[in-house]
Amino acid sequence: MKEAVRTNFDESVTAYDDYERRTGRFTALARLLRAEMAPRTGDVERILDAGAGTGVSTRVFGDWGRTVALDLSREMLREVSTGERVQGDFDHLPFADGSFDAVAFTASLFLTPDPGAAASEAARVLRPGGVVGAVAPLGWVRADGSDVFDELERESRSPTDANTVERALEDSFAVQTGTWRFATTAEDVRQFHAIPAMAARLYPRLPPEERVATARELLAGLDGTLEQRWRWVVGVTET
Ligand SMILES: C[S@@+](CC[C@H](N)C(=O)[O-])C[C@H]1O[C@@H](n2cnc3c(N)ncnc32)[C@H](O)[C@@H]1O
Repeated sequence: MKEAVRTNFDESVTAYDDYERRTGRFTALARLLRAEMAPRTGDVERILDAGAGTGVSTRVFGDWGRTVALDLSREMLREVSTGERVQGDFDHLPFADGSFDAVAFTASLFLTPDPGAAASEAARVLRPGGVVGAVAPLGWVRADGSDVFDELERESRSPTDANTVERALEDSFAVQTGTWRFATTAEDVRQFHAIPAMAARLYPRLPPEERVATARELLAGLDGTLEQRWRWVVGVTET
């Protein structure tokens, strides 16, 4: 499972950056998350960007403190241009207890089958009163609230849904949550699923080289104004 995530993201660098350049969505998510995290803790010196990808979130958190960018995917991580970089798994963090002031999972915690392990690792490496933040997708919906993928008889689902991410963090932190909604277009949905790691959500059993093409066919006729929803969860450790 983790091996598949790593391989899928290793192949996603170019498409991921193309998507981000066009939509700015992951930058927006990281900024919103940071704005929820910052008021809930004191001074911040060292931040773990857990699941840093190509460094979109690292750049945002780098304005707040010294970042350590951690990711499973060597190819994604190679693109990170700021702060320290560590290839690793956020379920087994290679860091000392209490060595961070903040841990951010920007669009990453839902990619692990056991978010409870990552949440307790985050609690371990945070200092007392340190802050954790995560965002997890709630899907793409039409104006009537229906999921876009239901009518396509497909699921664009992560290994772990947003409620499970929230419950996992609740076990280790005192949390607060909310929902962010982005008005978006069918073209956005198409470009998102042109990222190999995202096409793999729709067609996990197809050979990798067929996934993006099949997703493109599925989504060719999609139109109208849509909403992309994300759940945010922010928590603090006991002081
Ligand atoms: C959707 S990308 C988000 C990247 C970045 N935070 C951003 O805002 O653009 C998710 C990243 O999480 C990484 N990831 C998934 N599971 C992981 C794990 N168990 N440990 C470390 N990184 C992981 C993936 O390799 C991928 O680069």
